[in-house]
Amino acid sequence: MTNLAIFASGGGSNARKIIEHFESLSDLRVALVVCNKKNAGVLDIAAEHGIPTLLIDRTSFYETDEILKELRSHDVDFIALAGFLWLVPGYLVQAYPRRILNIHPALLPKHGGKGMYGHHVHEAVKAAGDTVSGPTIHFVNEHYDEGDIVYQASTHIDKEDTPEDIARKVLALEHKHYAEVVERCMREVGRLVG
Ligand code: GAR
Repeated sequence: MTNLAIFASGGGSNARKIIEHFESLSDLRVALVVCNKKNAGVLDIAAEHGIPTLLIDRTSFYETDEILKELRSHDVDFIALAGFLWLVPGYLVQAYPRRILNIHPALLPKHGGKGMYGHHVHEAVKAAGDTVSGPTIHFVNEHYDEGDIVYQASTHIDKEDTPEDIARKVLALEHKHYAEVVERCMREVGRLVG
């Protein structure tokens, strides 16, 4: 069994898609959901599916490596960030080299970096007058949105589209592709180490 941990901060619609997708797989599973917000919707989704959760605080995440013990105790091999808004600290990147994926709601390298998340991204796409947008799935390194890109999907943006319209189009693509890309990357890791 190869085990995934999902890190999320919010509603968790991508987490839900990944959890549902993985329920149909016999050799990969979601072993843990890690969250930094007490009332985040993703915690309810994890509970609905009987997946253990871990609530983290900023001090322990950045000033200790306690989370590594938790991840090891759940035999976590791979991590998918799904709307997780904290920068991943170096010790965690080093413990999971090319084993942490993030999804960003724009076509990186455009519209990435600190402070670029959620609606800020779609507002920037609109302000730039871009005619395409879409999610980027990339490996995580110590910098926001800078790791190697694994997958991008794009959709046309109409002149009349509002940031909310853009968000809806991009999120639909995230839901369509993220779970499968996570699965594919986990299988690659299995082949490399196994
Ligand atoms: C998603 O659109 C994801 O791409 C974005 O947060 C949303 C989370 O939605 N992530 C970022 O902006 C990271 N920079 P969800 O909680 O419904 O999956």
